[in-house]
Amino acid sequence: MERAVVQITLFGLLLCLVTTLPNKNDWDIYSFHINSTVSSRYATTVITSRVANRMNESKEIEFQVRIPKNAFISKFTMFIDGQVYDGVVKAKEEAEQQYTEAVSRGQSAGLVSSVGRTLEEFKTSVTVAAHKKVTFELTYEELLKRRLGKYDLQIHARPMQPVKDFKVDVYIHEEAGINFIEVKGGLSTKALANAITKTQTETQAWVYFYPTKAQQKTCDSCGKQGMNGDLLIVYDVNRDVAFGDIKTIDGYFVHHFAPSSLPRIPKNVVFVIDQSGSMLGRKIEQTRIALIHILNDLAEDDYFGLITFDGNIFHWKRELVQASKTNVNSAKEFARGIRARGSTDINEAVLEGARMLNAHTREGSASILVLLTDGDPTTGETNLETIHSNVRRAIADKFPLYCLGFGFDVNFEFLKKMSLQNNGLARRIYEDSDADLQLKGFYEEVATPLLTNVTMMYTGGTNLTQTHFSQYYNGSEIVVAGQITDNDIETFTPEVVAISGTQRLRFLDTNATVESTGTVTDRRIQRVWAYLTVKQLLEKELQLSGPEKDKIKKEALELSLKYSFVTPLTSMVVTKPPGENTDVLHKPKEGETPQLKNSRRRMKWTSAQLRTQRKMQGPINGIAEDEMQNLSILNFIKIVKMDRFPVFREPTVRLTDVNPSTLPSTEIIHIFHRFLIKTENHSLPLCFDVPGDTRLKLLHHPNRELSVNGLLDSVANRGFKIIGIHFKNNQYIEIDTNGINVQAGQGVTRNTGRDLVTADITVFGRDKEFDVAVGDTHMVILVHEKDGNKFLWPILRQRPSDDGVDGILALKAAVYEEVQQSPSTKLKIKDQEIDVTRSSAVDYSISIPPTLDCWFMSAESALQRRLDDFTVAQL
Ligand SMILES: *[C@@H]1O[C@H](CO)[C@@H](O)[C@H](O)[C@H]1NC(C)=O
Ligand SMILES: *[C@@H]1O[C@H](CO)[C@@H](O)[C@H](O)[C@H]1NC(C)=O
Ligand SMILES: *[C@@H]1O[C@H](CO)[C@@H](O)[C@H](O)[C@H]1NC(C)=O
Ligand SMILES: *[C@@H]1O[C@H](CO)[C@@H](O)[C@H](O)[C@H]1NC(C)=O
Ligand SMILES: *[C@@H]1O[C@H](CO)[C@@H](O)[C@H](O)[C@H]1NC(C)=O
Ligand SMILES: *[C@@H]1O[C@H](CO)[C@@H](O)[C@H](O)[C@H]1NC(C)=O
Ligand SMILES: *[C@@H]1O[C@H](CO)[C@@H](O)[C@H](O)[C@H]1NC(C)=O
Ligand SMILES: *[C@@H]1O[C@H](CO)[C@@H](O)[C@H](O)[C@H]1NC(C)=O
Repeated sequence: MERAVVQITLFGLLLCLVTTLPNKNDWDIYSFHINSTVSSRYATTVITSRVANRMNESKEIEFQVRIPKNAFISKFTMFIDGQVYDGVVKAKEEAEQQYTEAVSRGQSAGLVSSVGRTLEEFKTSVTVAAHKKVTFELTYEELLKRRLGKYDLQIHARPMQPVKDFKVDVYIHEEAGINFIEVKGGLSTKALANAITKTQTETQAWVYFYPTKAQQKTCDSCGKQGMNGDLLIVYDVNRDVAFGDIKTIDGYFVHHFAPSSLPRIPKNVVFVIDQSGSMLGRKIEQTRIALIHILNDLAEDDYFGLITFDGNIFHWKRELVQASKTNVNSAKEFARGIRARGSTDINEAVLEGARMLNAHTREGSASILVLLTDGDPTTGETNLETIHSNVRRAIADKFPLYCLGFGFDVNFEFLKKMSLQNNGLARRIYEDSDADLQLKGFYEEVATPLLTNVTMMYTGGTNLTQTHFSQYYNGSEIVVAGQITDNDIETFTPEVVAISGTQRLRFLDTNATVESTGTVTDRRIQRVWAYLTVKQLLEKELQLSGPEKDKIKKEALELSLKYSFVTPLTSMVVTKPPGENTDVLHKPKEGETPQLKNSRRRMKWTSAQLRTQRKMQGPINGIAEDEMQNLSILNFIKIVKMDRFPVFREPTVRLTDVNPSTLPSTEIIHIFHRFLIKTENHSLPLCFDVPGDTRLKLLHHPNRELSVNGLLDSVANRGFKIIGIHFKNNQYIEIDTNGINVQAGQGVTRNTGRDLVTADITVFGRDKEFDVAVGDTHMVILVHEKDGNKFLWPILRQRPSDDGVDGILALKAAVYEEVQQSPSTKLKIKDQEIDVTRSSAVDYSISIPPTLDCWFMSAESALQRRLDDFTVAQL
């Protein structure tokens, strides 16, 4: 009976999930920006989407993005017509009440649902009046988890249209030093690869992804609707210190512990494999393949056991045996013969696995129990609580239990609880062509135990997150956060004790100092602590019952509310102007049955969609809606044609003039601006100087009728004063730090503010930058400030592929060879040997400019052309 009810509510969910796709003629996403900042592995990402209703009538505009499952949404804001609508995080019950009211008033509801393996979707919509605009801004936070020796920052981009002003900015700051950083994922393929730039110093890295509108249709998973895929930033930090690194700010600390230079310890592993009837077909086939791979990877000093089960238990061997060649081969034979049939007796099978491990005591080794199942217990002991307590008693904290739930018919919560109660974790294996790789991938994460019984101790620390870990595996990481009592760093003493094989190890912070940065208002580490604490409280809550459960739940709820995290216990309520509905959004729980109380259904669905949706776990949610008022974010400006000078010849008119002859000539000689030419790989960039007051040819793109020049300041290293842009049909604008200047009649210029949209050019003046899109060229002009003076620095976030393009911004990456190191360094560029000196340059292509080491040489050598080739007489 209960089953039937579940099905019905699930259908309710499906109906809501399927919505009409936006008609791109109706509304225009003119700007889409993803900004991700990672510090101490904690990522804060802000997605900003600006949308205009181009129609003569009001339209419902949708905002639909995908974020990592592991993340907590912490902020959602809509800006409509000068009004700000902030989402408020409330206890779920409280929010649900409002939600029910909203639904009973017949208003639509927004959704959060889980999609695929790693993402969940946030969706909301708002009605926007004719020719008005809306800005959506969503912030989410997550602690990146180290897996197989790396962190993955997943950024999903699917704006649903090609977007003129599209960009992804990623900034990573790791005090321990960045060991490597790579950009992967579907969006890094084909033409889109050109749209990625990466800059790296020892502790910082920047990744920019600025595809043009045309490129947004060309990646593997892109089409007419624009991009749809992932950008995966993969990196790891240096691990020179076994103790790891501790960062403290404002009385909070986070400790990352991941020693790598330890010997592996031999393991004893028992695989308990479900071969019940439901595994029939591809599932059992993939399990066999994975198992054979895994057996192959066992080390000779590992011991292992293999049990299959349905309603009965089948042993390969009754006891654990050494992973010798002969034994492994024999086990592989057994694995090949596994056939699916019968029912599912999880209780007996896990207890038998535990018995085998308990019977095999070997000093200096690490024991691991792995259960793979695709269903609920159907025979033998089927009471879930009883199974939990049986298993717990049998394992008695002696080794971890990992549960792999294959497909979506498993009771994942049951598996999760069982593994958490036994120091392990549960992982879902998705029914797909790569299920065998998922199984193998999971095994690899636990394949190399380095430590057992790890205890993290912090004298002078309080409110600590989990401090005891039964095993530590190569490639993973232990993270502990907490508060420092009275913020007294002097008495704060961290220490780790653990067992490596038969040896007891003690890790001390040899430097005895704890890096402490940031101002009193810097809440970053505090948020890491809150994130980790909430995650762990939610796991703990799952394992408990009765008053204990309620107490933990209350704690988790209070923290979620305090830090404004949308967790399974809270919801975000988006309140709108009077007369509009209120929308509520919940975070879906992995493996949770969708629960939609009562909602309007307006959609149709197909059986294919039904199948897809069935794979999505999780409930639903909240929305947005709005009053239609004025929105004037953009100014539409008519550009006066300047037919007096053709674009690609020397202009005879300039809007703003700076006369270098008014400066004392002796000063000019000493005024230089330093430029960098970066390399493709990590070798040092080249640098050279250009005299002040020079008018540089930045980008000349004849095929696109685009020409950009810049005037360097007359004060050294203060970048550009003015950038002049000539584009289609002899139009011309200038940008300075105050905004955009447009010629408005003969000799008259007019400052038109910071935004400009015409058919040929789009300029958005943001806080510290102008984003300029002309045709398919996307340029950023950063506004830097030094000693109270502002200046400009133009950047092309992607090198044009067109050979006809010229200018400083179009320079190719430097390729050189170091041919001599002493007495002086010589580099070979093309066939020329050049004397260089080690120097440094500020990289103004980054908003908070780092100083990079570089090889200094003359401009001619660096450019491989005369500097004159890169100058113009007039802007
Ligand atoms: C990205 O976010 C960081 C941190 O919030 C902020 O300092 C930076 O200005 C943002 N960048 C852009 C281009 O909005
Ligand atoms: C919008 O309204 C204007 C004036 O009422 C009209 O000229 C124009 O054709 C309309 N545009 C659309 C797309 O309906
Ligand atoms: C642990 O991983 C690192 C890097 O992946 C590797 O160099 C090292 O050999 C591994 N240690 C053991 C004991 O396998
Ligand atoms: C694990 O470590 C704790 C604290 O160091 C100790 O009390 C306990 O006996 C250890 N357990 C084992 C199995 O070594
Ligand atoms: C932190 O710990 C102190 C006692 O050590 C306690 O009074 C306080 O409530 C704790 N704070 C939180 C947020 O748990
Ligand atoms: C120890 O601290 C000093 C400066 O206080 C620093 O230069 C050095 O790199 C640190 N060593 C380690 C191993 O962290
Ligand atoms: C709409 O814009 C006009 C002119 O810009 C302004 O006078 C009016 O107050 C605005 N209306 C609202 C509701 O903001
Ligand atoms: C960078 O690339 C150049 C040429 O492709 C090569 O000569 C040089 O050794 C490389 N440097 C590094 C650090 O990989």
